[in-house]
Amino acid sequence: MTTDVMVTLKEPRMIKICAPMVRYSKLQFRTLVRRYGCDICFTPMILADSFVQSSKARDNEFTTHEGDEPLIVQFAAKTVNDFVGASVMVAPYCNGVDLNCGCPQRWAMQEGYGANLLKKPELIKDLVYQVRNHIPKPFTVSAKIRLLKDIRKTITLCQTLEKAGASFLTIHARTPEMRNEPIDLDNLKLLRDCIQLPLIANGDVKSLENAEFLFKESRCEGVMSARGILTNPALFSGYPVTPLVCVQDWLNITSTMSTEFQCFHHHLVFMLEKILPKKDRVLFNSLQNKSSVLEFLENYYNIKPNASNLTELTRCNFSTSHVTCKEKYINCWEDDSTDFLGCIFNMNS
Ligand SMILES: Cc1cc2nc3c(=O)[nH]c(=O)nc-3n(C[C@H](O)[C@H](O)[C@H](O)COP(=O)(O)O)c2cc1C
Repeated sequence: MTTDVMVTLKEPRMIKICAPMVRYSKLQFRTLVRRYGCDICFTPMILADSFVQSSKARDNEFTTHEGDEPLIVQFAAKTVNDFVGASVMVAPYCNGVDLNCGCPQRWAMQEGYGANLLKKPELIKDLVYQVRNHIPKPFTVSAKIRLLKDIRKTITLCQTLEKAGASFLTIHARTPEMRNEPIDLDNLKLLRDCIQLPLIANGDVKSLENAEFLFKESRCEGVMSARGILTNPALFSGYPVTPLVCVQDWLNITSTMSTEFQCFHHHLVFMLEKILPKKDRVLFNSLQNKSSVLEFLENYYNIKPNASNLTELTRCNFSTSHVTCKEKYINCWEDDSTDFLGCIFNMNS
C-alpha cells in the first residue's frame, strides 16, 4: 500500500469518498466507483471480533486487489483486543482502519456497537489510541460518528479523539435519532471550527452539486456519499444519473471477479432506479438469476459483458500470531438486508 491518505486529505480540493455500506461497498463496487472519480473507499462495516476469531469471516468479509487503494477498512468493535487484533491483521492490505460509531440499528445498539459507542467517549478514545500505538503512520486510524444532540458533547468527543491520535474523522451530520430529516449543517460547521483534524462530511450527497455545496459550506476536507453513490456510482464524475457506460463497467467488473447474484443484481437495481421506467423496473427487480438479468440488459440497452481476463485478487495471509482464534463467526447482516433501502425494493418512492 503506497498511498498516504493524509497527504490525499490535505490536497487543496474536494476529496471524494465512497461510504462504508454493509453488503454494498465491496471490492466490485469499489472498483467501479474508483473509475468515476472516487478518491478513497471504505469497506462495509466488519465485526472485529469475528474477523479476529474466524478465518471464514476474514475470507467472506474482506477481499481486495492491487488497484483497490486507498482503502479504509471499517470495523465494529467494542474492545481494545478486538479492534487492535483485527487492525493488525488487515493492516498489510489497506491504508487505514475506521471505527464505526454511527450505526443506529437496534442490534448494534443492543450489542454495544455503532452509535452506542457515542455514549462511551472514554472507550472510543482508548480504541483509537491503542491502534495508533500498535500500527505506525502513514497507516490511518479514524472514526465515523454521528452528531450528538448536545453539540458541545460532540465537540468534546472529537477533541478527545484528536488528542488520542485519530488521523481524521467522518461526521454523518445527523444524530442517531434522526432518520430522513435534512442534515444539521449548522452544527457541522460549528464542529469544523473547533477541530484541527481533517474532517469528512457525510449526509445527503446525491449529486456532484450537492457534494460541492457541502464541501464549500462545511469547510471539511472531504465529502462522503452512501445512498447517492449506490443509485449513481458515477455521481462524483458529474453524471446526473447512472450513465449506461457505468452499467457496462459493472457488467465487466462482475464478470472478472466472482460475485454473488444478490450483490450483482442489487447494484443494478439501484443503478437503474432513476433510468428505467417503473413498469420495466418492476420486472427487472424481480429477476431471479444472472442469465435473465443479462438477457434483459442486452434486449433493453444492447449491452453485455465484454471483459475476459479474470482479476487477480490479493492473497491475504492474515497473521494470527497475536490473537487466539476460535472460529467464531456471526454473520449479523442476515436480517437487516434492505432496512436502509426498502423504498427502492418496494418501489414506493
Ligand atoms: C445500505 C447502507 C449500508 C450502510 N452501512 C454502513 C456501514 O457499514 N458503516 C457505516 O458507518 N455506515 C453505514 N451506512 C451509513 C452510510 O455510510 C451513511 O453514513 C448514511 O447513509 C448517510 O449518508 P447518505 O445520505 O449519503 O446515504 C450505510 C448506509 C446504507 C444506505
